[in-house]
Amino acid sequence: MPDVFVVLEKDHRKVQGLLAEIEGTSLSTQQLKERVETLIIEESKHEAVEETHFWPLVQDKVEGGQELTKKALNQESEGKEVLDQLGKLSPSDAKFMELVSTFAGAAREHIAYEEEQVWPRLRSVLTKPEQEDLGEKLADAKQHAPTRPHPNTPSSPAAQKVMGPVAAATDKARDTMSGRK
Ligand SMILES: [Fe+2]
Ligand SMILES: [Fe+2]
Repeated sequence: MPDVFVVLEKDHRKVQGLLAEIEGTSLSTQQLKERVETLIIEESKHEAVEETHFWPLVQDKVEGGQELTKKALNQESEGKEVLDQLGKLSPSDAKFMELVSTFAGAAREHIAYEEEQVWPRLRSVLTKPEQEDLGEKLADAKQHAPTRPHPNTPSSPAAQKVMGPVAAATDKARDTMSGRK
């Protein structure tokens, strides 16, 4: 079973790959629209499961975990605001690429923060079986996670636990009706 860091790293690399493609110049408008939609889905699922399962453990187990978590949740909330706006625009809109670049900068910073500041600390306090157990939880939770940003739902783990499944069900219905993948 892949551990928590392998599971999260796979998502981070995927997001970074999508950002590089989106910021590149070789995509058609249709491809750009599709990649941004995939980015929104991937990011929404990733942050939702982190907020439900990852940050509570950081808060609990890591020294200084409250502060580390607070900063990360702020970054995640800001990211959701931008993605929410981006999801309502088409690539032909003047603000589209501006929002893409705002999100890309913030997302890269957030990923580096998690990987460099948080992961080493959590890694040092979890046993290998605990790391694997958390990896499994995250991978499972992703199957039923919200696929849209929901900036109005607080990023706190408690709120995510209650609101996450509701948001995920609403998203699924909207995805089915709109033919979104
Ligand atoms: Fe995150
Ligand atoms: Fe992350």
